[in-house]
Amino acid sequence: MKAFVINAFGPADVFEKVEMPTPQAAAGQLLVQIAATAINPLDYKLRRGDIPAFTHDFPAILHGDFAGIVSAVGAGVQGFAVGDAVYGCAGGVRGRQGALADYMLADAALVAHKPQNLSMAEAAAMPLVLLTAWEGLIDTAAIKPGDRVLVHGGTGGVGHIAAQLAKWQGAKVYTTVGTAEKAELSREYGADQVINYREQDVASYVERYTDGVGFDVVVDTVGGETFEQSLLATRVGGRIITVLAMGKLDMTVAWARKQTVHCVNMTWPMATSVGMEHHGFILREGAKLAESGKLRPLLDSQRFSFSEVAAAHVYAESGQALGKVSLTRD
Ligand SMILES: NC(=O)c1ccc[n+]([C@@H]2O[C@H](COP(=O)([O-])OP(=O)(O)OC[C@H]3O[C@@H](n4cnc5c(N)ncnc54)[C@H](OP(=O)(O)O)[C@@H]3O)[C@@H](O)[C@H]2O)c1
Repeated sequence: MKAFVINAFGPADVFEKVEMPTPQAAAGQLLVQIAATAINPLDYKLRRGDIPAFTHDFPAILHGDFAGIVSAVGAGVQGFAVGDAVYGCAGGVRGRQGALADYMLADAALVAHKPQNLSMAEAAAMPLVLLTAWEGLIDTAAIKPGDRVLVHGGTGGVGHIAAQLAKWQGAKVYTTVGTAEKAELSREYGADQVINYREQDVASYVERYTDGVGFDVVVDTVGGETFEQSLLATRVGGRIITVLAMGKLDMTVAWARKQTVHCVNMTWPMATSVGMEHHGFILREGAKLAESGKLRPLLDSQRFSFSEVAAAHVYAESGQALGKVSLTRD
């Protein structure tokens, strides 16, 4: 099979197109013929060598997210047949080769049937960000109808799915974005109210939207200063979800306000094989939500083929993309 691999960490042109043996599905696995994948920040962080301990041994096939067609079913796998259209996030990290290839092996527990109303490119844009947003909002912060939920990065990968999940759960949804164009888009993707973080500071939007009380739940998809601002935006006893709790963080406000900070690491089931069934469950629920029109992925208008992976990474890393950057297999 053809695969796009890295043999060293580096800039986007480090990808090489190579021929590799097509893998065989072992017990519990599916062999998926890949139709599309999408870029998550994790993919370019792994490519750059930011988190080397997490990268598969070279030659490494990156990208966890995929949509495609089942071409072989391993022993003991229930519920999937050759020819099924599926999606998931099942590799691209140490121990599991990824989706930038003609075929990918995926643990069946990490896979679900593709939402029927989405294209392959759309379906491939959802898994990692859906799993992250679900773990944060539903599994850990346990949002309730009527909660005031603030999502940072309302048109970002995690943010636009988190906003839609919060809306589906009956929350009142607020998002932050950096431009007027993104504000308009964020309203179409779940936000009741949109805050331009370049124009309003935390104190002013907390006052305006919560009478100074603070939001019940804040989702931090940015980290650093935004994490500390998230604590200031959350009410006494409220919950903060963060996907970026790395480095030194000042938790003084969380202590003073008796807040709960939930850290999400969606790679855990892939890294440890613990909790894989729950990821399959989330993807099945996500497919139902997509099919009922409650959840849809936001794809940037620029589309790439696998051969254009270097250009796609440059574009995704530039921060210019509006939503997810998708690639279809050529
Ligand atoms: N721990 C985990 O399991 C996990 C899972 C998924 C993602 N992540 C990490 O979470 C981060 C976000 O991932 P993603 O897929 O959502 O990335 P993304 O698609 O690149 O989105 C990032 C968003 O952040 C927004 N942003 C930047 N600065 C901001 C600020 N000061 N205030 C509010 N919004 C701001 C950007 O919007 P503007 O252009 O409008 O600024 C952009 O929409 C990445 O670092 C990723 O690696 C971690």
